[in-house]
Amino acid sequence: MSDIEQAPPGVDITVPSVARMYDYFLGGTDNFEVDRIAGEKIRANMPEAMDTAWANRGFLQRSVRWLAEQGIRQFIDIGAGLPTMNNTHDAAQAVIPDARILYVDNDPLVRVHANKLLEGATGTAFITADFRDPDGLFGQQTAQEAIDFTEPVGLLVVALTHFVPDEDDPWGLIQRYMSRLAPGSYLALSAATDDRQSARALGTIKEEYSKSTAAVHMRTRAEVTRLFTGLELVPPYDGAGREISYTGEWGAEDPVAADSDGSRWAYCGVARKTA
Ligand SMILES: C[S@@+](CC[C@H](N)C(=O)[O-])C[C@H]1O[C@@H](n2cnc3c(N)ncnc32)[C@H](O)[C@@H]1O
Repeated sequence: MSDIEQAPPGVDITVPSVARMYDYFLGGTDNFEVDRIAGEKIRANMPEAMDTAWANRGFLQRSVRWLAEQGIRQFIDIGAGLPTMNNTHDAAQAVIPDARILYVDNDPLVRVHANKLLEGATGTAFITADFRDPDGLFGQQTAQEAIDFTEPVGLLVVALTHFVPDEDDPWGLIQRYMSRLAPGSYLALSAATDDRQSARALGTIKEEYSKSTAAVHMRTRAEVTRLFTGLELVPPYDGAGREISYTGEWGAEDPVAADSDGSRWAYCGVARKTA
């Protein structure tokens, strides 16, 4: 965004947005001063913040590619965000050229961005919807037209559930989404954790996000594992068990080298709906 900071209609640039802060951590340009200030305050106590964002993004790209290699031809990407390069449709269509992707987000700037980015991108659609309202999401005509619910789907919920408080039951919401999808569908999910992180970094992160469009809710390994209840986790890398991992490790050729400080801020997993 230019530093004159012209906001598209409906976009509030007085409050940091979690979508735009993530864009800032990825080195993008779809953010405003208020997002950059919040991002820099976090980086002051979490110098690896940009690595954290990239480790998460890498998980999304590797898992989408892997799912396409398993024959998944359609994806629902909830909390899609603002990235400009190597998006879900790029990763999926590199394997299956006619793969279809339904992007979903509740941030008004993401809609503006998606309208531009997806112009001419075949097989893609975007809807504004809230993850916490599966009926509202699935009820949209564009969703019904984009996805064949009789065939398996790759459901992506990447770096989103930590913006959903316990009271809104992210565990139950994931169950509701998966119950709508055909057997053979997969869930790919990552979620921030406070396991083994410093109180100082956590304090700053929580404070900055509490002033943004969504407060952050870090979860333990057990709490993230519980998001996959009823599904069959796939091993995150050769030699691993059926379990979640840190984001950098998933699908990594060398999981030891990929186990960076940044990557340890989020767990992830990919799991199959078997019946
Ligand atoms: C950290 S970004 C992750 C972007 C992308 N999934 C990735 O991992 O690279 C989180 C995204 O979730 C969106 N989001 C947060 N809460 C949401 C909700 N309740 N419903 C839909 N989208 C939401 C934000 O607007 C933002 O774009």
